[in-house]
Amino acid sequence: MPTLIGSIPTVQADDLELAKRILKGQENISNSTATLQKSLEGIFKSKEVYLFNRGREALYFALKTLGINSNDEVIVQAMTCVAVVTPILWLDAKPVYVDINQNDFNIDIVDLEKKITPKTKAIVVQHTFGNIADMKRISEMAMKHNIYVIEDCAHLFYTDYSKTEINRYSDVSFFSFAQDKGISAVQGGLVVINNPQFEKTVMDLYLNIETQSKKQALYNAKYIQLWSLIKKYYFTPILPFQSRVTLGKILVMIFRWLRLIKQQATSSVDTILNMNRISEVQSALLLNQLEKCDAINKRREEITNIYDDKLNLELRNKTASKYLLRYPVLLSNPGVLMQQLKVHKYICGRWYNSVVFPIHGNLDKVGYVSGSCPKAEALVKSILNLPTNIDLEDEEAVEIVRIVNENGKPFKLSN
Ligand SMILES: Cc1ncc(COP(=O)(O)O)c(C=O)c1O
Repeated sequence: MPTLIGSIPTVQADDLELAKRILKGQENISNSTATLQKSLEGIFKSKEVYLFNRGREALYFALKTLGINSNDEVIVQAMTCVAVVTPILWLDAKPVYVDINQNDFNIDIVDLEKKITPKTKAIVVQHTFGNIADMKRISEMAMKHNIYVIEDCAHLFYTDYSKTEINRYSDVSFFSFAQDKGISAVQGGLVVINNPQFEKTVMDLYLNIETQSKKQALYNAKYIQLWSLIKKYYFTPILPFQSRVTLGKILVMIFRWLRLIKQQATSSVDTILNMNRISEVQSALLLNQLEKCDAINKRREEITNIYDDKLNLELRNKTASKYLLRYPVLLSNPGVLMQQLKVHKYICGRWYNSVVFPIHGNLDKVGYVSGSCPKAEALVKSILNLPTNIDLEDEEAVEIVRIVNENGKPFKLSN
């Protein structure tokens, strides 16, 4: 089987079986959301939790909860996903981009202070790849300027946060359960209210949001079934003596054309607010993943340790974070390496090879001013992500290391 860093990196045989039973109507899912909610309240120590169809909808809800209005400025880091910027644009507010650190790909606190203006109302702090941002220092600065902090936890999910700084220094945290995230319901989002000041307003807001129809929600189970099929045949050639045209790739094209599967982020900016609560289908899928969350994180840690131990020193991730969703490597030839790894059936990724991924070229439509985040602009050209998928074997991780060590040209920012 190939390793696909995106699409369905956490889906295993039991998830596929569950998806099939849901599609056939053989699974009783009627209480899934209530059960999921209870489990999450346990994990987040009785803080209020709200579940959504997608992470970007959760962020929109978080911004609404904090009272962000049109013309307010909301700070985000450069080297992010368009899904982070879209909810700000839905509110007609202005995204302001801050540069990043080379060591963890998170917001640069020095540039952050420079970008704060009297119009700044909130900062979205991203834990990129699962590298934990310095929440304490960021929140101290936010407090000094009277700004709210939203924590973007899309790249991590744990069942125990007690030994971390996550959810401790922000007003609101949000999570994503999209197809390529830590645990996944194909689509899904969560808001956790950390600041009790907002507990009252938030309930009314949530009451007005509808759950999507069961028919629409079944998309999530169907996606698992279709991608499991694609994965199986991803490298099966359909013509003799060539390897480029494969059954899996043709299936991707057909399923996308039929709109049976969609890309999670596209370069077009979604201008129409589309917001739903999570469905019972998604909750059922997520409950199954939640049970395996510790095992998935443990495996990520083991693979991260292999990369941390065996990659050439200058290529290693520079933080102590171990539950990495993707393992970042900076190279001056990332595209070449990606192709070489693909030949060995490892489909790696390039989050984020643009300042607002996956938009390339003119970033006016997302309010990015060219040259305003020079470090991020350089780093996005050099980034490659290695997989930390649950089904990656130790020997495969070691093979990936060998290929990267032998062929990768380390990249360093010139100061
Ligand atoms: C850092 C980050 N935040 C938020 C999101 C939004 O998640 P979703 O796709 O569930 O809307 C993404 C999506 O990839 C992301 O990468």
